[in-house]
Amino acid sequence: MSDTKGVAFSRKLSKCHNIRDLRKAAKRALPFPLFDHVDGGSDDETTLGANTAAFGRYCLKPRYCSGVESVDASTTVLGQRIEWPYFTGPAGGLKYLHRHGEIGVACASHKYGTAFAMSGWTNTRPEDITAASEGPRFFQLQPCRSREVMADMIQLAKDTGYDALIVTVDNPVHGNRERDARSGFGVPPAFSLKAMASIASHPRWALGTIPMPGFGLYDKYMDSPERDMNWLANQLITNITWDDLAWMRQQWDGPFAVKGLVAVEDMRAAVDAGVSAVILSNQGARHFDTAPATLDMLPAVVDAVGDQVEVIFDSGIRRGTDILKAIALGATACTGSRLYCYGLAASGQQGVERALHLLRSEVERDMIFMGAATLDQVNHNSIMSNYQS
Ligand SMILES: Cc1cc2nc3c(=O)[nH]c(=O)nc-3n(C[C@H](O)[C@H](O)[C@H](O)COP(=O)(O)O)c2cc1C
Repeated sequence: MSDTKGVAFSRKLSKCHNIRDLRKAAKRALPFPLFDHVDGGSDDETTLGANTAAFGRYCLKPRYCSGVESVDASTTVLGQRIEWPYFTGPAGGLKYLHRHGEIGVACASHKYGTAFAMSGWTNTRPEDITAASEGPRFFQLQPCRSREVMADMIQLAKDTGYDALIVTVDNPVHGNRERDARSGFGVPPAFSLKAMASIASHPRWALGTIPMPGFGLYDKYMDSPERDMNWLANQLITNITWDDLAWMRQQWDGPFAVKGLVAVEDMRAAVDAGVSAVILSNQGARHFDTAPATLDMLPAVVDAVGDQVEVIFDSGIRRGTDILKAIALGATACTGSRLYCYGLAASGQQGVERALHLLRSEVERDMIFMGAATLDQVNHNSIMSNYQS
């Protein structure tokens, strides 16, 4: 079992026994516009519900008398060995949730034996994250209109010691997040009166967060009055092509993942563009509502490209059993953001540690129930769809 057994947490965190409890703690800690920004999805939030519901359609097979008492859940993702098959995915603006922000999440990830993916919308500069945490780290690039700016960012990722590049392609336009529209959360923010009142009634959050931090990666490009937040948002929302992706791939020698693909046709095109990994993701249903739940697409995606590239699963993970179901269906590893964002909002770095502690313990305990000593023993024989014997 992990060396993270028996870790002491604060009284508040010790009462959080699962990610649902951490979500409730985050709801208490944050003004509602911030909580809704993390928690919400687009339009009717149909895909948001579908992402988590999809796991209920599968069972994991218990296997006993196999003599398995301890497990090794380690795997390799994007060239990095991690101790269990989940890494903290890119999420923008982590300092808006808690002053510990990106560095808190990177340090917690390292402590819990896994990697951290920095969002392009980071509040903290990439080099400051490198200086603060020795753990493996991935750099998420938000495609932008200028190849010159993109080349500059990719160079920065190399210079500051990032191990892999992740290019997110699934927001060619902004998703219609109605919770954000109601509260006025946006770039730049235009909070409603109700939102301002909620901010005023969360003084602990406000003391740690106001003045609102800038963007650690983009601030240097906003170097004149006309290059304001509206300019930035316009630069970063762009519909790229497979040629653009192939060009980005040529700029980066190491592991290269494309994030945000769902359709099998797109997975094949990404492989043709030279990626080494695909991240099957609908970005947690934050952009295109009615897209399929990613778990429903996983078998077809593994079938189409799983023998050529790593297939990383994203969107909807809340339990160790969710991770094991995705692995059993052929994913190399899993990622996601909301579950650790809830922990961060609730209690900073310690809250992220609590989220990772719970999840990792679940994975390791459930592998024993499944009689799987190592992750390669979690496979198509370990899973069945509901109601099937
Ligand atoms: C607050 C927040 C900010 C996010 N920002 C980004 C981002 O900057 N880049 C990106 O590729 N994905 C971003 N995501 C999406 C996550 O990387 C991931 O795809 C999503 O959270 C998966 O859904 P889940 O957390 O419900 O499993 C963000 C998610 C959240 C919750």
